[in-house]
Amino acid sequence: MSVVVLGLVTSNQDKLAEISAMLPKGFEVQRLDLGEIDETGATFEENAELKAIAGLVQSSVALGEDSGLEVEALHSAPGVYSKRYAESDVARVRRLLAELRDVDDRRARFVTVIAMAQRRGLTQFFRGEVEGHIAREPSGTNGFGYDPIFVPNEGDGRTFAQMTREEKGRISHRGRALAMLVANVGTLVHLGEDLPE
Ligand code: IMP
Repeated sequence: MSVVVLGLVTSNQDKLAEISAMLPKGFEVQRLDLGEIDETGATFEENAELKAIAGLVQSSVALGEDSGLEVEALHSAPGVYSKRYAESDVARVRRLLAELRDVDDRRARFVTVIAMAQRRGLTQFFRGEVEGHIAREPSGTNGFGYDPIFVPNEGDGRTFAQMTREEKGRISHRGRALAMLVANVGTLVHLGEDLPE
C-alpha cells in the first residue's frame, strides 16, 4: 500500500508528534527543516501559508501550520502572538493567568490553520477551532504550551494537559484542521510525485 507523505514546515516537535499520531493509516508526516520562519503575517492563514510556501523548495506539496489561543476578555489576544507572548511555556501560562486574575469571563478558543501549498496548484486552507475556558491555575503535565490552563467545553472539566494525546486529538483545533486536510487530500494536483511505492 502506498503512503501519502506530507511535508510539514515546523520547528515545534510537539506539533509534529501530535500531527503524526493523529494521521490515519496511509499517511505520514515528514518534517521539512527550514529553520525558524519569520511569522510576519497578521492572521493564522497568512503565517501558515508563509511556512507552507517556504517548504516548496524541498517538496512539491508542503504544509504549514499556525496556531494560537484567542481569549475573549483580551480581545482575542494573544492570537497569532501566542508563541511570542513570553519566553517559555511556563512564562506564557503565568502571564496569561496574571492578565486574567480579576476577570470572570474566561472564555477562550484554540485555533489551528493548516495551509497546503503545491508547486502546481493553489494553496488550500484547513481551519480547526475548539472552544473552552481558561482555568484559574495550571493542571496536568501532558501536551505543551497553554494546555495546562485550557479546559475544552466538550470535555469533562479536565485541561488538555490532563488528557491523553488521543483524547486531546479527538476534539482539538489541530485534530479538526487535520481531519479536514485528510478528507481533502484527494484534491492534490500531483499526488504521487513524492510518494514512494
Ligand atoms: P506557532 O503556531 O508556532 O506560532 O505557535 C503557536 C503557539 O500557540 C505555541 O507555541 C503555543 O504556545 C500555542 N499553542 C498552539 N497550539 C497549542 C496547543 O495545542 N496547546 C497549547 N498551546 C498551543
